[in-house]
Amino acid sequence: MKQEIYSHTTSQSALVRVAEISARYRNRPDKLMDVILAVQKVVPSMAEDVAAVIAREMGLMQNEVYSFITFYGLLSVKEKGKYIIRMCNNAPCHVRGARAVMDAISDTLKIGVGETTQDRRFTVELCPCLGICDVSPAIMINDKTYGNLTYDSTQALIKRYIREDV
Ligand code: FES
Repeated sequence: MKQEIYSHTTSQSALVRVAEISARYRNRPDKLMDVILAVQKVVPSMAEDVAAVIAREMGLMQNEVYSFITFYGLLSVKEKGKYIIRMCNNAPCHVRGARAVMDAISDTLKIGVGETTQDRRFTVELCPCLGICDVSPAIMINDKTYGNLTYDSTQALIKRYIREDV
């Protein structure tokens, strides 16, 4: 079943890049997350036309790709920042201090969940379990995960991303 899909037009040159990335993993559904993470670096947002190219080039059903993207909350009409900070929103992280981590992110960047900084460097989102509950509370910034975070260590981490490309 096709879920909550947004229409959006992505440039042809970006779609060609998406096709190149996706074609490398033809018939490798296990690589879908890797492809999506790579594709996110070359498109302003994970829109419907992007998902369709991924499905075509990887030899997957479009619904499969849509479900995956919507499950992880990756589909968006809004342009996202260069760095997407995903805050795990599941119970183990909550219990172990996700709130302080979230506070550190919003105090440092002055934005909340679902927002992007004006310079389009950061977008903050919530996501399901990142699979590293043993080091919760955890976040993911693009394709890198960080765990055992506190208010102070999160702030230091975000400041590093402000200063330099990590
Ligand atoms: S609950 Fe947060 S990483 Fe699993």
